[in-house]
Amino acid sequence: MKPPRSSTVRLPRGTEPFSYGRIAEIYDTSLRLFGFKRGVEQFLERVEWRVPTRPRALDAGAGTGLNGLWFLRRFPGSEVVAFDIDRQMLAVLARHARRLGNLRHRLIVAHGDLRAPNVLTQTDTGQAIVLAETSFDVVMVGAALEHVPLDVSLERLARLLRPGGLFLNVGMRPGPPSAMLGRLYRFRPYTTGEIHRLLERLGFVDVHVLRLMPTDFPANLTRIAVTGRKA
Ligand SMILES: C[S@@+](CC[C@H](N)C(=O)[O-])C[C@H]1O[C@@H](n2cnc3c(N)ncnc32)[C@H](O)[C@@H]1O
Repeated sequence: MKPPRSSTVRLPRGTEPFSYGRIAEIYDTSLRLFGFKRGVEQFLERVEWRVPTRPRALDAGAGTGLNGLWFLRRFPGSEVVAFDIDRQMLAVLARHARRLGNLRHRLIVAHGDLRAPNVLTQTDTGQAIVLAETSFDVVMVGAALEHVPLDVSLERLARLLRPGGLFLNVGMRPGPPSAMLGRLYRFRPYTTGEIHRLLERLGFVDVHVLRLMPTDFPANLTRIAVTGRKA
């Protein structure tokens, strides 16, 4: 019997995942240029983190590091693991990290997949990292869960969080702007209700929807957050 000609599975046009790497520099520059980064950071300042003095945080689907790098600066005693599926996005993140001075030693940049977030590959050493369950004080995601099946990824991320730890999703706010971005970047915005219900089903308490404020413009147009504490 002849072997199959190719083992590559071809997805129908338009259904392949969007490759952020192609636009990594533009993505990152536009976050800064249009005040989006400032808006998200202002919002992050208002979050009730309630973390220990040396918190361990995971930035899942970190992109160019918007959330993870802010966290590291805000909590200089922290250790942050930032991972993404796209190596070019991570290369931009690593470049920003070089400007962190000594804090950069507290950052681990890794390649990984939100659908199996416990096994990562450190980008600079190529070493495999297995994340232990309940080993993080904070797990945060910025507009990345929209690219994966919510229930599987959230459940696996939740396992990494210690009891009492904070989960934060700064996700896409459903509405015309994110519907347009969803077509461009091929994602589906989840409603805050879907995330809220799933967190409660996973045993989270103090689940809250946090809206960004008009002063966080333009981030308030496309992002909305949900937080919860692991019981
Ligand atoms: C809209 S960007 C957000 C990046 C960053 N968190 C932020 O807030 O600016 C979405 C990110 O999710 C990443 N991503 C998409 N699918 C992923 C997956 N299965 N596992 C990990 N990261 C993924 C993309 O590579 C991209 O960097």
